[in-house]
Amino acid sequence: MSLSDAARAVRENAYVPYSGFKVGAVMQAEDGSLHPGCNVENVAYPEGTCAEAGAIAAMVAAGQTRITAAYVIADSPTPVTPCGGCRQKLAEFAEGPGTVITMANLDGVEMTMTMAELLPGAFATSHMENVET
Ligand code: THU
Repeated sequence: MSLSDAARAVRENAYVPYSGFKVGAVMQAEDGSLHPGCNVENVAYPEGTCAEAGAIAAMVAAGQTRITAAYVIADSPTPVTPCGGCRQKLAEFAEGPGTVITMANLDGVEMTMTMAELLPGAFATSHMENVET
């Protein structure tokens, strides 16, 4: 199954009683495996989780820690872009700054950006190098 098909399929399972905005995300891992996730909302609104976070958690639970490509889809006028928090989560596991994230809407419009374009100046372990351990 393609990333696009997997993301469209998992989006249907999104639990969105509060926003009504279904999002599907798929992480492709280093070994080629695909890890889908959807947003899961909660009556305590801040406890809800984004589709990207669900897909990343599924990937790590499956024993994979490197994202080689990601796909995000929603029913939005223009391709849906990951929120700020999800950009940081993606950066944690992206293979590198050149890893391509594809964003899409249900009309088939796609937009691609690299990890570095999505999160320029990302906070990284290199910023903590002065810490004495
Ligand atoms: N949402 C995602 O799952 N991913 C994104 O990239 C943007 C926003 C979800 C969170 C919430 O359930 C709903 O979309 C509206 O913000």
